[in-house]
Amino acid sequence: MRKALTAVLGAGALLLAMLVAVALPASAAAGTLGEAAAATGRVFGAAAAQGHMGESAYASTLDREFNQLTPENEMKWDTTEPSRNSFNFSAADQLVSHAQAHSMKIRGHTLVWHSQLPGWVSGISSRDDLLSAMRNHISKEAGHFAGKIAYWDVVNEAFQDGSGARRDSVFQRVIGDGYIEEAFRAARAADPNAKLCYNDYNIDGQNAKSNAVYAMVQDFKARGVPIDCVGLQAHLTLGNVPSDMQANMQRFAALGVDVHITELDIRMNTPSDSSKLATQANDYKKVVSACLAVSRCTVITVWGITDKYSWVPDTFPGEGAALLFDDNYNKKPAYDAALEALGGEPGDPGDPGDPGDPGDPGTVSCAYTRTAQWSTGFNGQVTVTAGSSAISSWTAVMTMGSGQQIAALWNGSPTTSGNVVTVKPVNWNARLAPGASASFGFTVNASSGNAADPSVTCGGS
Ligand code: G3I
Repeated sequence: MRKALTAVLGAGALLLAMLVAVALPASAAAGTLGEAAAATGRVFGAAAAQGHMGESAYASTLDREFNQLTPENEMKWDTTEPSRNSFNFSAADQLVSHAQAHSMKIRGHTLVWHSQLPGWVSGISSRDDLLSAMRNHISKEAGHFAGKIAYWDVVNEAFQDGSGARRDSVFQRVIGDGYIEEAFRAARAADPNAKLCYNDYNIDGQNAKSNAVYAMVQDFKARGVPIDCVGLQAHLTLGNVPSDMQANMQRFAALGVDVHITELDIRMNTPSDSSKLATQANDYKKVVSACLAVSRCTVITVWGITDKYSWVPDTFPGEGAALLFDDNYNKKPAYDAALEALGGEPGDPGDPGDPGDPGDPGTVSCAYTRTAQWSTGFNGQVTVTAGSSAISSWTAVMTMGSGQQIAALWNGSPTTSGNVVTVKPVNWNARLAPGASASFGFTVNASSGNAADPSVTCGGS
């Protein structure tokens, strides 16, 4: 809407139009990923970790943007049944309650996986004993959550890269090929209403591994083994969205199963820059568009909310920046690309989260660093960077931790309200050319500890 407005108004009226625009309600086009996906009959989800839910920007971004939640680790075997037949669902229960309170669907992840598996399971060597342990685990866990789970990743990552042979795991070695169908049968019995999925990585395009999964699903459908969906994890690298991803999803759909993109992220060598972020945006657009082109592709889930907590840098040192929100919860160009591909309209006036939207003309991104610290305080610096258009001014909004006060601030003009500090430029650093940056610094007195950094969002005009 803003783009349309500015196109028809003369330059002299632009300021007035922008002032009016902030008072307008959001237009009919969807302004969040969840809303836009819902308008196409799909859901857009995120993996979330209970350990981060106390961080307000984390929870509010989840609640605002996503309408499906996958517990990142809380439903895995080592968490839910650390010793035999002794179950602990407390962290998962909290995430499920949160999702229900915010009308999000829940993806159960995962019942049977070779990883994050407690030692007592890996140590079982009798076929009957392991089958019994696996059935009991599925029956108790899927039974505990029955009625609350939209989709279960029943079996995760059972095939090898390259050959498409079965992955070596205790289940494969001790039970044999039949363990997967046994798991699906047990899951159906425990929760007849959940959609049951097989989930794996590197099966996003057509290759030996996805061919093996395809053959298994075809066989399951032919023999009446209960399976409803296939999850393509889609842990991708920059510039490498498989060109046959849509065709691959279509062939699974033709077998009579839904297709879900379950763990989407697109990593790059860090640090990111505008060119890599633009490539990433285009990659996200390709993935979302491929899903939209396949009617049975009904779910897109990203593997995390913010780059700050992504699994990627821990596993691939030197890589990261794989998600839709940066470390400071600013929307990345990939966010706008995904939203636009879904038919939503990024940057509408009134959309929440617009500050710091780098894909929107005239807006900016910002980065925070702690530059010094001592027992009762610290110094911080925020760098504001213009996007692809020049800006005439900017605003940074910092939410401080409890017991923290700004003692001094330089190269910016602060206004404080409660724990929120709004920083405007001083006259000489307001205007920024495309891609140019301005920084301000500050000192924080922290009476109750200096551990928490402020969360920072930025906007421009
Ligand atoms: O909870 C402990 C904490 O107490 C301890 O201090 C810390 C020290 O390393 O480890 C914490 O556990 C970590 C856990 O994540 C929770 O943060 C584990 O070490 C770490 O291995 C674990 O990583 C998870 C990984 O699966 C395990 O394989 C990632 O968070 C999670 O994103 C990742 O998710 C998988 C999907 O389940 C399946 N597909 C691939 C995907 C990415 O690897």
